[in-house]
Amino acid sequence: MNRRQIVAGNWKMNTTIAEGFTLAGQITDAHRSKEVLTILAVPFTHIFALQKKISARSKVLLAAQTCHHKNSGAYTGEISPSMLASMKVPYVVLGHSERREYNHENNNLLALKLRAALDAGLKVIFCCGEGLDIRKAGTHVHHVKVQLVESLFQLEAREMKNIVIAYEPIWAIGTGESASPAQAQEMHAAIRLMLQKKYGKRVAEATSILYGGSVKGNNAKELFNQPDVDGGLVGGASLNGEEFVQIINSF
Ligand code: PGA
Repeated sequence: MNRRQIVAGNWKMNTTIAEGFTLAGQITDAHRSKEVLTILAVPFTHIFALQKKISARSKVLLAAQTCHHKNSGAYTGEISPSMLASMKVPYVVLGHSERREYNHENNNLLALKLRAALDAGLKVIFCCGEGLDIRKAGTHVHHVKVQLVESLFQLEAREMKNIVIAYEPIWAIGTGESASPAQAQEMHAAIRLMLQKKYGKRVAEATSILYGGSVKGNNAKELFNQPDVDGGLVGGASLNGEEFVQIINSF
């Protein structure tokens, strides 16, 4: 398999600077599999300090957790893609279900954000996933397809090398109940097929698809063992340095 294995930690709105420093240190200092790209999606306030903490040798990259769809303007409180690019932040997470829910980010807005992020030179971890009602109705694959068609699939094939997809079933986020390895594999294979139909086999085979939703030290191995699961986007367990490293070393 020529796809990049990736474990990304999503700190969400957690940690003070001091706590973030300690946590990042636990991760950079630990013995980690060299094959796996480690990404930390940290609060905006932490980026500058953590860049100083994380050496190039540590093979840990930072991500922002969102960005605006414009590069400048009268948008009080917002952070733009070009600001992140000017800080040399390599990645931004877009489309997280918490942003979709609490900040009313819909597929059309996410298409604009994707465009702006890529134009600024950022790479994107793009999240998709269904809620419990949709899972129960059995329409989860269709739901994710619509999310991708209306946002991600606006991009050109050549831009897909800058995209990592994260499938995160909302019913598994922060609930302690992860999708089963078979449920994750079913959706990841379906997403890869969608990629193939839209962009061809080469793009489909090269795009890393991460699973997110209650990934823990004790279930990561089984999930990452699935042929179409290329890693994880980890929330709660990424706040525990030891457990996060255990997850990274689960491949
Ligand atoms: P969780 O969060 O690992 O705490 O379920 C995952 C996420 O929201 O990215």
